[in-house]
Amino acid sequence: MYNFVKPFIFKLSPEKAHALTIKALKSGMFPSCILPNVGEDPCLKTELLGLEFSNPIGLAAGFDKNAEAISGLLGMGFGFVEVGTVTPKPQIGNPSPRIFRHAETGSVINRMGFPNEGLTVFKANIQKFCAKNPHVKTPIGLNIGMNKDQTEPEEDYKALIKDLGPYADYITVNVSSPNTPGLRNLQNPEFLKPFLKTLIKEKKNLSNNPPLLIKLAPDLNEVEIQAISKVLLDVKIDGIILTNTTLDRPDLLPSEFSKEKGGLSGALLKDKSTQVISAFYKETQGNIPIIGVGGVSTAEDVIEKIKAGASLIQLYTGLIYHGPQLPSILCKNIAKILKANDCKSLSDLVGDDHKTSQEKSKRYQG
Ligand SMILES: Cc1cc2nc3c(=O)[nH]c(=O)nc-3n(C[C@H](O)[C@H](O)[C@H](O)COP(=O)(O)O)c2cc1C
Repeated sequence: MYNFVKPFIFKLSPEKAHALTIKALKSGMFPSCILPNVGEDPCLKTELLGLEFSNPIGLAAGFDKNAEAISGLLGMGFGFVEVGTVTPKPQIGNPSPRIFRHAETGSVINRMGFPNEGLTVFKANIQKFCAKNPHVKTPIGLNIGMNKDQTEPEEDYKALIKDLGPYADYITVNVSSPNTPGLRNLQNPEFLKPFLKTLIKEKKNLSNNPPLLIKLAPDLNEVEIQAISKVLLDVKIDGIILTNTTLDRPDLLPSEFSKEKGGLSGALLKDKSTQVISAFYKETQGNIPIIGVGGVSTAEDVIEKIKAGASLIQLYTGLIYHGPQLPSILCKNIAKILKANDCKSLSDLVGDDHKTSQEKSKRYQG
């Protein structure tokens, strides 16, 4: 079905196509009948961060920036949905065009710059969703960021945690989008430690005390990964989301496309983000849960990231190229692979790349 409508969608600008998709999801008119039933295969169930996930495939941040289409997104079969990035004040982001596709390599470059309607609208949308769907168990993560003109980042993050935290199953502190000047500097370990301590204290004041995760860039070197891992272990962060988009421009890309400023996502980010997952898993000795994201479009991509150390997966660009059936197709194919390999649960494969063959053989016993 998506292959049929894709040529028409791709005739529109990426931002127009996205706006139409959000509109369709919001209106409830999205043709859920075309989506295969995900089912709830027990081998896909995951427990993490004190939450239950019916499957490990989540929607990455940036798709539903204003938390306005959650119901429609859940209908696509995601095991969890992350909305945002939201900033305290509304902001328009960078001038358009600011999203670019390169279909031949399954890539996207974006320099959105956090356009969003701000905390007040976001909060109203979340409240409306919660009121209408009191029985929905699918975890909803809230991704928070700072306004472009904020010189005291901590203030924005604290305000967002205080106001939105009560509605969050988990909160993601985004310090890795490349399109807000200075944002990635927040990853600097000297800044990061006191910053995260303050935010953790803030969320502990909330009665629901939601898990706090940090989302990091793929463009970190080995020394930076070591130093950041140490900080994350010290402050006892609940989880890490790896990774955001990259500033790299692989040689494969034509200059016409790669000259665009912004973050690259999709197939060409896949290996880099998997390497970063692996490096953080190694540095933290598997002691901090990781959500892996970057270039996922097949069940094999998912298993690769799980073996590198991720416990859950998110995707965004894959949806653009493979359509709304992608989460269900991935779930079906992961279950098939697990069964073919006599593996009872995807969770058993987390960090497999780092285990000895003796450790690996244990999972087949009993
Ligand atoms: C158009 C676009 C907008 C994005 N906006 C955000 C955002 O607001 N916050 C965020 O944390 N990540 C954002 N991302 C990054 C994605 O969440 C994800 O980390 C990245 O694209 C890699 O995954 P993918 O290859 O599956 O797209 C955005 C990505 C795209 C393509």
